[in-house]
Amino acid sequence: MAHGDVTPHPVDTSTLKPLGKDWIEPNPYRGNDKAVAVGAEGYLHNCAACHGLNAVSGGVAPDLLALNRDCLAFPSGPKREDCLKDVDDYFKDVTLNGRKNSEGRIIMPAYGSVFTQEAVWAIKSYIDARSVQEQDKQK
Ligand code: HEC
Repeated sequence: MAHGDVTPHPVDTSTLKPLGKDWIEPNPYRGNDKAVAVGAEGYLHNCAACHGLNAVSGGVAPDLLALNRDCLAFPSGPKREDCLKDVDDYFKDVTLNGRKNSEGRIIMPAYGSVFTQEAVWAIKSYIDARSVQEQDKQK
């Protein structure tokens, strides 16, 4: 599959509450509809080429919905929240730093120089919302 244009594109987060310079965890936008919509756009322009349209992996890159799956298996409460916070942290790290393969070749671009914290958390909010949708479908 051709990856197309995988240059990181900034995400317009001007409609969202600014979060400031220091990183906030867990994802402060989780469940915020506006952030989910902004994140969906950001995802489409930056991630979908590899991770799949609507965050449904076509096998080129890992399924991002799988990241939250174990957390969502906990009933809502502190256990689930702690689990999601760990996933947030991992998601943020990979997104900012990208990934290289064992030969040092870039297989996922780093978004750290282009994404604000608002952009990272908006995209994670989109993934979170999609994860809940997929889980509800299983019921
Ligand atoms: C050029 C293709 C490409 C693009 C674009 C891309 N990724 Fe990735 N991503 C990958 C690959 C390949 C891996 C697996 C890397 C590995 O095996 O170490 C990965 C891994 C990840 C992981 C870790 C998944 C896991 O199961 O451990 C996260 C999180 C992630 N990407 C988020 C994103 C986000 C968010 C975006 C958009 C802002 C994005 N990626 C854009 C190719 C891409």
